[in-house]
Amino acid sequence: MTRTILVTGGAGFIGSAFVRLMLETQADVRIVNLDLMTYAATRSSIVADGDRYRLVEGSINDRELLAELLADVDPDWVVHFAAESHVDRSIEGPEAFVMTNVVGTFRLLDETLKWWRERDATQRERFRFLHVSTDEVYGSLGPTGYFTEETCYAPNSPYSASKASSDHFVRAYHHTYGLPVVTTNCSNNYGPYQFPEKLIPLVTLNAIEGKELPVYGTGSNIRDWLYVVDHCRAILSVLVGGVPGEVYNVGGESERTNLQVVETICDIVDELCGALAEGISRRSLIRFVTDRPGHDQRYAIDCTKLKEQIGWSPMVRFEEGLRTTIEWYLANSAWIAEARENNYAGQRLGLQR
Ligand code: NAD
Ligand code: TYD
Repeated sequence: MTRTILVTGGAGFIGSAFVRLMLETQADVRIVNLDLMTYAATRSSIVADGDRYRLVEGSINDRELLAELLADVDPDWVVHFAAESHVDRSIEGPEAFVMTNVVGTFRLLDETLKWWRERDATQRERFRFLHVSTDEVYGSLGPTGYFTEETCYAPNSPYSASKASSDHFVRAYHHTYGLPVVTTNCSNNYGPYQFPEKLIPLVTLNAIEGKELPVYGTGSNIRDWLYVVDHCRAILSVLVGGVPGEVYNVGGESERTNLQVVETICDIVDELCGALAEGISRRSLIRFVTDRPGHDQRYAIDCTKLKEQIGWSPMVRFEEGLRTTIEWYLANSAWIAEARENNYAGQRLGLQR
């Protein structure tokens, strides 16, 4: 059966991985990608033929465009990735996060609802709106325990507060109006095509170029890392098998301290590129810098629900995925140049407003 998917934010890191996965593995899928092409988007992340893939440049805040696009595309699924996604930027300038993540998601939901109500019963039944969200909405963990779907929301950064708000609107559009939504709350992703403001690509590029490697605070904060393709497989499995109105946590079962992550990157880059100088590892480039304001200590996901009810589990081991990622950054200087043209030179963000 042919399916048409309206993706938002498909020129960013995870959205483009989803588009690539769908085009490569699902012969019967057509994709329309609505993306504002902000600093975080790169055109060369998706190379596809015109019949199965179309990029529409525009904003999820533009109601007129949304109404036109929904009528024109007539999607089976809407998969919503578009967001401002970087915690440090949300500390410097929270308003853009409210406008895109909260207001934009609200408008997308509202226009989708209007369009969905006009469909026939069969189309309404099989339609899904999948909202891609984050585990950061649950706040910060101590040394033990995990986030489950029942964990109370306690967002700490402007980014996570805006995502939490969007999650609540998505929930409300199901509860109140019956829109068939599903939400996924996922842990930290890594992999090829990630914009080099986030920890793993930033440290990878600095290590390759012999620059200092900034570790916030003591480097003891813990994240649960998931390879981006595993996340995209989870999204597809929830689109196919998820129950409308339900939430699914997605995690990598790969907790690492930031310092462990940075040291592992140093070791892999040393191995692939040779040491900095005779007997000098890239670990010598590590610098402990002023901590992020409000820095969450630990995130860790319990993804039992997704495993047991949908049959998904993470497939790529962290060290294996990290090596693939570093090899990709070493081989893709044209993409890196394109990303860097978007006004970011690796400077520290998020220390103040
Ligand atoms: P990203 O910053 O790499 O990409 C975001 C994309 O959204 C960009 O292509 C950008 O141009 C687009 N966009 C921004 N504002 C828009 C607007 N108003 N209208 C249309 N498009 C717009 O983000 P990412 O890391 O790929 O994250 C994608 C989604 O996954 C986000 O919703 C994020 O909250 C969520 N998420 C990310 C992670 C992670 O580790 N990166 C983890 C869990 C969940
Ligand atoms: P990041 O990739 O920004 O993701 P998030 O804040 O959404 O988890 O950061 C991951 C962790 O790495 C987080 O604890 C902050 C830390 N970090 C550094 O130590 N140095 C850096 O240069 C960056 C960007 C992040």
